[in-house]
Amino acid sequence: MTATATPALDVERLRKDFPILSQRVRGKPLVYLDNAATSQKPRAVIDAVTRFYSAENANIHRGVHYLSERATLAYDAVRAQVAAFINAAAPSEIVFTRGTTEGINLVANSWARGALRPGDEILLTGMEHHSNIVPWQLVAAQTGAVVRAVPLTDTGELDLNAFDQLLTDRTRLLAVVHLSNALGTINPVRWMIARARERGIVTLVDGAQSAPHLPIDVQALDCDFFAFSGHKVLGPTGVGVLYGRSSLLTAMPPWQGGGDMIETVTLERSTWAAPPARFEAGTPMIAEVIGLGAALAYVESVGRVAIGAWEEELLAYATEQVGEVEGVRLVGTAREKASVLSFVVDGVHPHDVGAVLDDEGVAIRAGHHCAQPVMQRFGVPATARASFAFYNTRAEVGTLVRGLRRVRSVFA
Ligand SMILES: Cc1ncc(COP(=O)(O)O)c(C=O)c1O
Repeated sequence: MTATATPALDVERLRKDFPILSQRVRGKPLVYLDNAATSQKPRAVIDAVTRFYSAENANIHRGVHYLSERATLAYDAVRAQVAAFINAAAPSEIVFTRGTTEGINLVANSWARGALRPGDEILLTGMEHHSNIVPWQLVAAQTGAVVRAVPLTDTGELDLNAFDQLLTDRTRLLAVVHLSNALGTINPVRWMIARARERGIVTLVDGAQSAPHLPIDVQALDCDFFAFSGHKVLGPTGVGVLYGRSSLLTAMPPWQGGGDMIETVTLERSTWAAPPARFEAGTPMIAEVIGLGAALAYVESVGRVAIGAWEEELLAYATEQVGEVEGVRLVGTAREKASVLSFVVDGVHPHDVGAVLDDEGVAIRAGHHCAQPVMQRFGVPATARASFAFYNTRAEVGTLVRGLRRVRSVFA
């Protein structure tokens, strides 16, 4: 700790903002450690969505009436808010999507389908979520491009020497996860993007896990695309963000057609609206976008630096405590990590670990975490994963550890 320590979070007070956290499950206080799957929602978000439907609901961009104008203003204001949250150069670089998955599919279908030629290479890593693998496999099959992946070290870091070798004149796209949902590794994306850009390679960052836990500055990262999901950053489900560098978005064709994304339509042909409208066909998720705005405002009010500092402390504590439980092996021990603790318990299937913990009121995830190549790399069918948010406490880590001791005794 330095003299200029970041302000401490009043976690107990913040927890009161999240109605769900005071619940009991299976007769025990809920210990929610599945934040990488989805975060819980503060009252401010729940209220914003309820208020919208109770008092403001109307379709946007089309009406001349009061409610429609109000809904349109509220929706567009969130675009500017998101741009500020990730330091985009302009709100027009923010496309609302259904989530990270849709953002990546948008880039695959709009940019990549037009840009890639047979033999071109798409460079991923061995720790991608399926949503940053499968869309590229689909587009590779359509274009003749080839998918390659940077291998992982035994600690769950990227092999950066291999990365340098895989980055060649054939590489057209680097698509990399910022913070791994399966391992917790924070990748050196800024450095990787700089290497890629030296060769004129387009870059995409999967920020599904980093947006909730790390400060994001897309201009400092210098990435071309950055995708994240609202529901992992305290917002509603069904809404996400794709940041796109404006020079690229402007040159990209639409990937879905319909209302709101056109300039003119005749029965013979249509012309497209400018981005971001070009990529938002049809009625968007208006209430969800407004809820996302409330979520980001809430995060800012708590303070991202303070959030990061507390989560770092909590992860270090959990790593030490869980690591001391006999028979537990951590999967993913990178030097730079955030939020995620993946582990296996000797002789016990992760699903059984999850079931015993659930009985104690502890919600973790067990499975392949939509990252099967990571499981293959580490030779396990699945892991158990505890993932933290700033509203988690040391006492909850204690409950997790006691639960793991119980797992050991049940399956001894
Ligand atoms: C690293 C990563 N990328 C992408 C996704 C997909 O996000 P969504 O399902 O919200 O589209 C997830 C979800 O868990 C993730 O953890």
